[in-house]
Formats: sequence, C-alpha cells, structure tokens
Amino acid sequence: MSEVKVAMIVGSLRRESINRRLAHAIATLAPRQMSFRSIEIGDLPLYNQDDDPDPAAEVLRLKQQIAAAHGVIFVTPEYNRGLPGVLKNALDHGSRPYGRGVWAGKPAGIMGASTSHTGTAAAQQQLRAILGSLDMPTLGQPELLFHVQDGTFDRHGHFADSVVGGRVSTWLERYLSWVKLHLS
Ligand code: FNR
Repeated sequence: MSEVKVAMIVGSLRRESINRRLAHAIATLAPRQMSFRSIEIGDLPLYNQDDDPDPAAEVLRLKQQIAAAHGVIFVTPEYNRGLPGVLKNALDHGSRPYGRGVWAGKPAGIMGASTSHTGTAAAQQQLRAILGSLDMPTLGQPELLFHVQDGTFDRHGHFADSVVGGRVSTWLERYLSWVKLHLS
C-alpha cells in the first residue's frame, strides 16, 4: 500500500475548537505515507430514519468520503461526560440504511482534547463502545488524552512540548501499523 488515506473527523463545530487545533497539530507529525482528509459533519441534517430512502446530498458525501478512506481518526471533545451529539449524528448517518453502512472494517483511532484534567476519557470510552458496535477495529493503546491549557500549542499550531510531540508520533506510527494490519 503506497498511500494510507485517513479521514479525520473532529467532533466540534466551534470556530476556535481546541480539538480542531489538535487535529492540525497531529497532521503535521504524520508519517509521510499517511494523508489526511478533513471530513465536514456540521452540515449534516439530524438523522431521521424516514430519510433513509432519499438521503441528503451531505449524507451521501459523508458516506463517499468514508468509503474512500483506509481508516478514520476521531478527534472528540467531551460534552457532559459523553461524546458530542454532532459526532453521534454523523456516526448514525454513516451506519444506515441497514446493511449499507460505511464504517464496518475501517480501522479507527481515537483522541480528544478538553479543558479539564480528565482529557475526554469518558467521551472516548463511550465512542469506543459505539465503534465496536459499528464493527470498526479500534486502536486500544496508546491512548491520547489532552488536557489543553495555554501553551499547549505554539504560535505555528505545533505541540509546544517535544515530549508530547514524541508521544503523538509514536501513536501515529502505531495507528499506521494498525491500518495496514487490518487492510492486509
Ligand atoms: C464541556 N466541557 C467539558 N469538558 C470535559 O472535560 N468534560 C465534560 O464533561 C465537559 N462538558 C462540557 C459540556 C459542554 C456543553 C461544553 C460546551 C463544554 C468543556 C470542553 O472541554 C471545552 O469546552 C472544550 O474547549 C471543547 O472542545 P472544543 O469545542 O474547543 O474542541
């Protein structure tokens, strides 16, 4: 496999999202073989099973983009000890109509940033359970949980702390191997 195409889904719609900043910082450290595509989920309608026979263009776009990716990385905030509704909405859209979902078999990676010291642990755990039910093999370790404070990112959007950058690079290498393992 020459190029490993990864769809990156950020579970926040906020303009100044720390999770979006995290996604950008991660992309700068990616191995050369890995390419990222940012997946828009903010324009998806609320999932309604009545729409399954005639899905919106945005839903079809999401499904095409995921189908074209070798793997998916989820970068999630934590809202009230769970994952944000906008991310669950995207997961539900991609899972239907029954038997024609796009998630199954796509190797997944999870990370997240929050402003609290728990670093999205609860949201990640919940997301992990959902991805299991969608039949997405999900990297278990290492985990990436970020407690973002002033100074986490430098003015170029990179990780200010090289130790953190090193942990992220290790994670990316593990994730790349994970994708290759499951697609071979
Ligand atoms: C939060 N935040 C939050 N943080 C956390 O660690 N655990 C939580 O349960 C919650 N709950 C929560 C609920 C709601 C509705 C909001 C808006 C926020 C704080 C959260 O970590 C912070 O707002 C992040 O900045 C959100 O990520 P983005 O949007 O900046 O990527």
